[in-house]
Amino acid sequence: MDAMTLHVSAGGGYDILIDHGVLDRAGGLIKAALPRAKRLFVVTDTNVSPLYGPRLVASLEIESFEVHTYVLPAGETSKSASNLVALWEWMTAHGVTRTDGVVALGGGVVGDLAGFAASTVLRGVGLVQIPTTLLSQVDSSVGGKTAIDLATGKNLAGTFTQPRLVLMDPETLRTLPDREFAAGMAEVVKYGCIWDAAFFAFLKARPSREALMADIAHILHTCCEIKRQVVETDEHDTGLRMILNFGHTLGHAYELAGGYTRWIHGEAVAAGMVTAAKLGVAQGVTDPDVPGQIEAILSPLGLPTAIDCDFSDLEKAVGIDKKSAGDDVTLILLEKIGAVLPLKLPKAQVLDVLAEMRGR
Ligand code: NAD
Ligand code: GLY
Repeated sequence: MDAMTLHVSAGGGYDILIDHGVLDRAGGLIKAALPRAKRLFVVTDTNVSPLYGPRLVASLEIESFEVHTYVLPAGETSKSASNLVALWEWMTAHGVTRTDGVVALGGGVVGDLAGFAASTVLRGVGLVQIPTTLLSQVDSSVGGKTAIDLATGKNLAGTFTQPRLVLMDPETLRTLPDREFAAGMAEVVKYGCIWDAAFFAFLKARPSREALMADIAHILHTCCEIKRQVVETDEHDTGLRMILNFGHTLGHAYELAGGYTRWIHGEAVAAGMVTAAKLGVAQGVTDPDVPGQIEAILSPLGLPTAIDCDFSDLEKAVGIDKKSAGDDVTLILLEKIGAVLPLKLPKAQVLDVLAEMRGR
């Protein structure tokens, strides 16, 4: 596989490097991206650390970095305020300076938390993302959103802080559980739905993990290139970036309904995309064959295409409550595969259509 590089012109500008075995070259690449760093603070989790931690640390130590490693318990609950404080105290106890760096090695949980810690300790140090899940490679490591979860909801505190470098080793995906790989594929399919019909067809022709892995570098590159264009246009999420939420509004309802344990994010997004497509058909704005096309690509991957939930969860997810009744909501719909259509609708109307769809 040839190495692929993308340059993102957001923040100070940074490269995304996709390359087989890049983990073993991380030291030199990070030295070039953070030339004044003496100390590197590697943040990872209990699943990823034994798999990839030693290779990364060896590569950093060859470049004479002073390396400190923090291993978080794997899982969403690690994205907490208490862990954020723990990371700040750990870095400052080890003498972090403004020219040092944080290296996030893991999935979106590690990336979001370590990113938040990097962007706030000493008012900000450099961040390198080394995403190891499909979801984090195609989505969370690129674009600069960092976050923790609060008791009041997910991702409710965070920053926009672009990394200085993103390194993706597609080989790390080989150790992902099937369920996590499929969940990442929901986000991959999303890019085809909202932006690129040819990419959607490319994915459709590869209905298994094995077939997808044979072309994984191209898949990662295509997704990151789409996200690059969106983020460069709307870094701070005030307009175009909302199209990345296709399938997510209803997906949030399904995650909520499942208590955030029954369905992982990508699974909820998969069902959310199909339901959003059906809603678009019901509104007369989406080609009638679109829901079936999306289902046909998600089902072979083992992803759910419909999830049952209480109507109250749908109401919460689309922001329909007594106080906001009558307000508008912007739904991310499709005209057809590859053509996204953000549509402002009265919330009450959305509620009616969803109720009617459930009645069918
Ligand atoms: P995750 O970080 O929890 O990783 C999923 C599981 O895979 C974990 O158990 C992890 O330990 C394990 N894992 C990671 N890499 C592995 C590997 N190579 N081999 C084996 N196991 C591995 O979850 P995720 O799906 O990567 O990310 C979800 C998080 O990302 C959520 O918190 C979500 O809010 C956030 N997110 C952020 C953005 C953003 O723009 N910042 C975008 C999308 C999602
Ligand atoms: N994951 C959505 C975004 O980065 O805006």
